[in-house]
Amino acid sequence: VAPLKVGIAGLGTVGSAVVRLIEQQGRALSARCGRGVRVVAVAARSKTRKRDLDLRGIAWAKDALALANDPDIDCFVELMGGSDDPARSAIEAALKSGKPVVTANKALIAKHGLRLAALAEQHGGALNYEAAVGAAIPVIKTLREGLTGTTINRVYGILNGTCNYILTRMEREGLSFAECLKEAQRLGYAEADPSFDIDGHDTAQKLSILASLAFGTRVAQSSVYVEGISSIAPEDLRAAEELGYRVKLLGVAVRTAKGIEQRVHPTMVPKASSIAQVMGVTNAVTIDGEGIPPITLVGPGAGGAATASAVVADIADVACGIRALPFGRPAEQLLATTKAPMERH
Ligand code: NDP
Ligand code: HSE
Repeated sequence: VAPLKVGIAGLGTVGSAVVRLIEQQGRALSARCGRGVRVVAVAARSKTRKRDLDLRGIAWAKDALALANDPDIDCFVELMGGSDDPARSAIEAALKSGKPVVTANKALIAKHGLRLAALAEQHGGALNYEAAVGAAIPVIKTLREGLTGTTINRVYGILNGTCNYILTRMEREGLSFAECLKEAQRLGYAEADPSFDIDGHDTAQKLSILASLAFGTRVAQSSVYVEGISSIAPEDLRAAEELGYRVKLLGVAVRTAKGIEQRVHPTMVPKASSIAQVMGVTNAVTIDGEGIPPITLVGPGAGGAATASAVVADIADVACGIRALPFGRPAEQLLATTKAPMERH
């Protein structure tokens, strides 16, 4: 069987790690799917930027849109970021031609995910975005496929690796907020614009995606109450510790009598609780379902290798012919639903 020919737009922290992982996992992917996976073309802003990557034999597309339209690729992988163009137009073009798309872009999925999912469904393509939430943690599939028989009442957790890394180092080492953020950027955890991380918007984007999957509602990022961590100082963490608490940036989506409430804010959690033990770049998501004890998934929540793990799993699904409704229900049904999370309070 011919290998799956992949085109990757974006060769930064995640894109580079994906190219390396596909190279390393070549044999294992072939064995699993009976079909190899080969990166045949790429696009990035700069063709001349020095990258620690062997791109010999791989074509450079003029831009992301040209790559998405390239008839020689079977699967378009978007790893540029940004909630609108060029990512949106390129993904739309790929989906309209029936090509499966893989992305790690939560900003785009939170804003346009359902419309893109509708395009994928109309044209027989796929929209795989496991890496968009919790990096290596398979939380999208867990909610979308693993828990379809369970009524979910609450989804909450630590959804931003950068913030948890900053809070952990500030607490343990007394470092300043600015020093910790700089280190998170150096390690490739932070967004291109790190205000998305520290102001809580990245967590809000992820939470709104999880809420849609968990509750069968539209993705409604605009109705998330958002408060970030940028005003927290080491002294605040020390004061919390003296009282027996740790501070964590939590995203919480909960079913209430009035509708779905979604909020993101720093929270004092008892030091002995399991969520307080989640340190560094680690993320944790707890799902409370009716009739079963809570399920918690914990794992690396940011960084090139962790994110590439989920992106390559999504590409492997394409190679193996595994296809799911992107939001677990027909996208048009979700777009038409009157069920939407409550407006911001
Ligand atoms: P980077 O900023 O490291 O890389 C972005 C890449 O996209 C670069 O190669 C850049 O090109 C390319 N790019 C940017 N704009 C354009 C454009 N207009 N046309 C073509 N190429 C472009 O980002 P990350 O790798 O960290 O993140 C990529 C995506 O993955 C984002 O959606 C992010 O939210 C998501 N993500 C990131 C995680 C992480 O831990 N970093 C974890 C989970 C998801 P050039 O190199 O030439 O500048
Ligand atoms: N900037 C994000 C974070 C990347 O720190 O969690 C992973 O989505």
